[in-house]
Amino acid sequence: MLISKELENAINQQIGAEFGASLQYVSIAAYFDADDLPQLAAFFYRQAEEEKMHAMKFVHYLVEAGGEVRIPAIPETTHGFESPEHCARLALEWETEVTAMINNLMGIAIQDKDYISQDFLRWFVTEQLEEISIMSTLLKTIQRAGENILLVEEFLARTSLGAETAGAAGK
Ligand SMILES: [Fe+2]
Ligand SMILES: [Fe+2]
Repeated sequence: MLISKELENAINQQIGAEFGASLQYVSIAAYFDADDLPQLAAFFYRQAEEEKMHAMKFVHYLVEAGGEVRIPAIPETTHGFESPEHCARLALEWETEVTAMINNLMGIAIQDKDYISQDFLRWFVTEQLEEISIMSTLLKTIQRAGENILLVEEFLARTSLGAETAGAAGK
C-alpha cells in the first residue's frame, strides 16, 4: 500500500463526508425545487453532483494507492429547513467543516512524508477555497435580497454561480 493506515482510514471517513454532503445538497435542492425556485434548486443539484464526484475521486485514489475502500454509514440528512438563509448558512458550515477535514488529510500526508498523496490532495485544498467562496456569496446574496427571494433567482440566472466549477468538475 502506498499510503499509511492512518491516511487510509481518514480518506474513508472523507468519502463518507463527501457522499453525506452530496445527499445534504439533494435535500436542500429538493426544498427549493418544491418551492418553485428553479435556479436555487439547480444550484444545489449541481453542488450535489460535485460532492459525489469528490467522493469518487477519493474512491479511485484509494484503489490506486492499494488501500481498501470502506464507506462508512452516512447520517440522515438535515431537513425541515426554515428559510433559504438557513440552507445557505448550513451549506457554508459544512464547507467549513470539510475544509478542516481536507486540511487534516494534508496534515497526515505531510507528517507521513507522503508526497504522492500531497499532490493528490492539493486539488481539494484549492477546490475548498472555491466552495467556501461560492457559498459565502450565496449567503450574502440571500441576505441582501431579504424578503424578495426572486432577486436571488435572478442573480443566479445572470451569474450562474458555481456553474463553471461543476462543468470543470466533470473533466
Ligand atoms: Fe466536497
Ligand atoms: Fe463542497
